[in-house]
Amino acid sequence: MAEKEFKKRILCIGAGYVGGPTMAMIAQKCPQYEITIVDINAARIDAWQTDDLPIYEPGLLEVVKLVRGKNLFFSTDIDSNIKKADIIFVSVNTPTKTYGEGEGKAADLQFWEKTARSIMNASESDKIIIEKSTLPVRTAYAMERILNVNTKGIHFDILSNPEFLAEGSAIKDLENPDRVLIGSRETASGIKARNEVVDIYANWIPRNKILTSNLWSAELSKLVANAFLAQRISSINSISALCEKTEANISEVSNAIGTDSRIGNKFLNASVGFGGSCFKKDILNLVYICESYGLHEVARYWESVVKINSYQEKRFVKNMITLMFNTVSGKNVALFGFAFKANTGDTRESPAIYVARHLINEHAKLTITDPKAIGNAKEELKPYLKEDISSVQFTENPYEAAKDAHAIAILTEWNEYRDLDYKKIFELMEKPAFIFDGRDILDHEKLFKIGFNVSAIGKPLMKHF
Ligand SMILES: NC(=O)c1ccc[n+]([C@@H]2O[C@H](COP(=O)([O-])OP(=O)(O)OC[C@H]3O[C@@H](n4cnc5c(N)ncnc54)[C@H](O)[C@@H]3O)[C@@H](O)[C@H]2O)c1
Repeated sequence: MAEKEFKKRILCIGAGYVGGPTMAMIAQKCPQYEITIVDINAARIDAWQTDDLPIYEPGLLEVVKLVRGKNLFFSTDIDSNIKKADIIFVSVNTPTKTYGEGEGKAADLQFWEKTARSIMNASESDKIIIEKSTLPVRTAYAMERILNVNTKGIHFDILSNPEFLAEGSAIKDLENPDRVLIGSRETASGIKARNEVVDIYANWIPRNKILTSNLWSAELSKLVANAFLAQRISSINSISALCEKTEANISEVSNAIGTDSRIGNKFLNASVGFGGSCFKKDILNLVYICESYGLHEVARYWESVVKINSYQEKRFVKNMITLMFNTVSGKNVALFGFAFKANTGDTRESPAIYVARHLINEHAKLTITDPKAIGNAKEELKPYLKEDISSVQFTENPYEAAKDAHAIAILTEWNEYRDLDYKKIFELMEKPAFIFDGRDILDHEKLFKIGFNVSAIGKPLMKHF
């Protein structure tokens, strides 16, 4: 298509879980814009051009196929695409720092800052720069200082448009979001830039769902949204521990409190813990920011959300070992699910990593099954396996995973695990057979009747001995 047929050129730097799906959706909804996604990772860019996309997300391939080569393009040529762009979304990774000041808590902004410098060096005209990555509040201030000291007379407006999509339902979330948030400086130029971005989303999102705010509120809202979501999980998980001591049932408690409209019923499922690339890192980042402003009590409050999460993971494995007669050494254990949640292949910060590592340390023999995450699971465990790779097997077939196992641990709430033939699975297993339901998705009464010893998060223990 000839270049000038497009109304604007949008560039996205970072072709990951956020950049890819977000831009594919904008491309589908806004054929008038030309959208290019660039990345330093050439293998990722190559994969985006095939039908074997670098990330799994229900419905994503269909959207990509509709727009790829029409108004959605992928490239590793970052500089020339920066030059051409009117609007640049920056969606690079912002992991937790693993070195120096703020190690283990602060956001590592090296990828972010490198991007800012590439933008400054390659630009020849005014541009709108949009923070899509999740960033510490007031990062835009640093970005403004880096970009607007250029000697080329170029003006950059920096906006914050944090992404609230959830992996596993990204396409649905992007198509019909609860809200879109766009923060800007409240200057004439900032508001003009903000309106340009509002115009993009207004192609498919009702105007009343497009919220605008000042820059700092937008940056902070993303961290706070993740902190609140994770806090709900840690809250219910902390109560699951109490349920196990008192014969209260966590599902009944969740239901009883979730029907209170002031509390609401979402994010009240007890589990082995939250995972994903964002919750832990964003909360730790919030903790670090609070500390840096001297707000120590606030920092401790949010830090406890992360502490309860690791307590829950530890509790889960400890309970497995205790129930299996205090040793798993030499025993076969099948892990059902490795992704941090269902409908994604993403294993970053998955509780399954902790569970697997701990069981490996205890000399258990693991078989890991997952419909989408086996490739990533292998990568996650590589550093812990050293030469002893044979202590872990991988299979997509849960029946195969269960063969000769002493125990099954359900670690991801994949729907297919609800409807397996557990009678057949029981027959395949060593006895006494255990099921540890880390997601509370199975019919525990039924399993107990089949003959399993069943231990589920926040539920009374059901055992035959
Ligand atoms: N994953 C989620 O569900 C989610 C949801 C909302 C927000 N976020 C936030 O969005 C951001 C991106 O997350 P993600 O999960 O997409 O990360 P990701 O790691 O999947 O993707 C980031 C991409 O940026 C690329 N990159 C890094 N530096 C670059 C550079 N200088 N130039 C070009 N490309 C570069 C990397 O190669 C990588 O492919 C993070 O800040 C994250 O916190 C993530």
